[in-house]
Amino acid sequence: MRKYKINGGIPLSGAVDISGAKNAVVAILPAALLADEPCRIENIPIIKDVTTSLLLLESLGAQVTRIDDHTVEIDPTTVNTCSVDDELARNMRASYYFIGALLGKRGSARVPMPGGCWFGERPMDLHLKGFRALGAEVTPQEDGFIEVECDQLMGNSIYLDTVSVGATVNIMLAAVKAMGMTVIENAAKEPHIVDLANFLNTMGADIRGAGTDVIKIRGTQYLHSATYSIIPDQIEAGTYMAAAVATRGDVLIRNVIPKHLESISAKLVEMGAWVEEMDDAVRVRCNGPLQHCNIKTMPHPGFPTDMQPQIAVVLCTAEGVSHIAEGIWENRFRYTEELLRMGANIEVRGSTATITGVPQLKAASVMSMDLRAGAAMVIAGLAAEGTTEIGNIRYIERGYENIIEKLTRLGADITMIEVPDEE
Ligand code: UD1
Repeated sequence: MRKYKINGGIPLSGAVDISGAKNAVVAILPAALLADEPCRIENIPIIKDVTTSLLLLESLGAQVTRIDDHTVEIDPTTVNTCSVDDELARNMRASYYFIGALLGKRGSARVPMPGGCWFGERPMDLHLKGFRALGAEVTPQEDGFIEVECDQLMGNSIYLDTVSVGATVNIMLAAVKAMGMTVIENAAKEPHIVDLANFLNTMGADIRGAGTDVIKIRGTQYLHSATYSIIPDQIEAGTYMAAAVATRGDVLIRNVIPKHLESISAKLVEMGAWVEEMDDAVRVRCNGPLQHCNIKTMPHPGFPTDMQPQIAVVLCTAEGVSHIAEGIWENRFRYTEELLRMGANIEVRGSTATITGVPQLKAASVMSMDLRAGAAMVIAGLAAEGTTEIGNIRYIERGYENIIEKLTRLGADITMIEVPDEE
């Protein structure tokens, strides 16, 4: 088993460059299938979910050419199947975006139920409701696949009962090729929804209102070639912001869109950290004690659920009692068990965690429970005195490019170690 080993207690300092957004790229790569010509996509992060997405594209017959580390060209004109590989798809949640993309492109998709991080029930009913509203026949199969078919998708008005990023993306992917107008009401407003709309519009799609809660999509029959650069990763940036504060460091976080970080900056400032926004960077500093605060995760522009575990670690180092209410997922506090092993004082009741700050987190051997929980363990290890070991790092590799190199450049003492499995 590979683990991260961190000798903690060193304040982070220096500059870090943020990579392209995971949640945008996992929607934009399947969206490239919809083009009728090759597309070039830039600022692609080097993470496992990208590797999986590119393999999925190739397994469908698309030609994928690596131009450089962060740029790929995708030629979707050679796609020859609508059936998505089971084993690859189960590696990541976002493989379900191939349903919308294949349905839009070929009127047919056979895709396995997705894998990915587990934090309670993660239903797909709204995705399927959307496909049905566009005229598709949706048939869940006994082997765990979902089959979706339609001769001609027709635009329609679709109200999402819950704000869902996944359903908004999937419906957009199918609707760009539907006949007539689709209106998604109560749509998600996350930065990656806007990025996907911008990519599709660059190819000639007609999507308006992305970033608001009503998105209007007029179907287009031909989508041409495009060159597009993925937005910076809001959550990767937020993770380095939290790490800077938890270690009482001073870090310049470059290649970000500060507007996307406002809900995170606001909470760090409320706790007593210092955040300076520049055009495409934020500087985060903290050298004194932090104050407790209360946080509720909500759809964008609220505080992102994907930053909940990382901010919890910062609150463990703050004075007083803080509350975190998880507003999106029913079971996203499993990682707190690991933080207890590091000397944290956290009590979880239902969807709320009560965190009483401690003077110092202690090093321990802990596990990464999922992607963002793993990032939280890294931050805790950096803040703790002593040597922390973190197992299950494959989750972290799904979403963080070169995390060891980036943290090392900020002065952290972090290495990858191999330990026998039975340990
Ligand atoms: C959500 C986050 C996203 C984050 C991801 C992983 C929001 C709005 N979305 O996206 O930013 O990257 O988790 O942490 O913060 N739901 C249904 N039926 C559906 C789909 C979803 O009831 O068909 C519910 C879910 O149970 C959940 C909520 O809607 O309570 C949000 O889910 P959704 O936005 O779809 O999740 P992800 O796209 O995975």
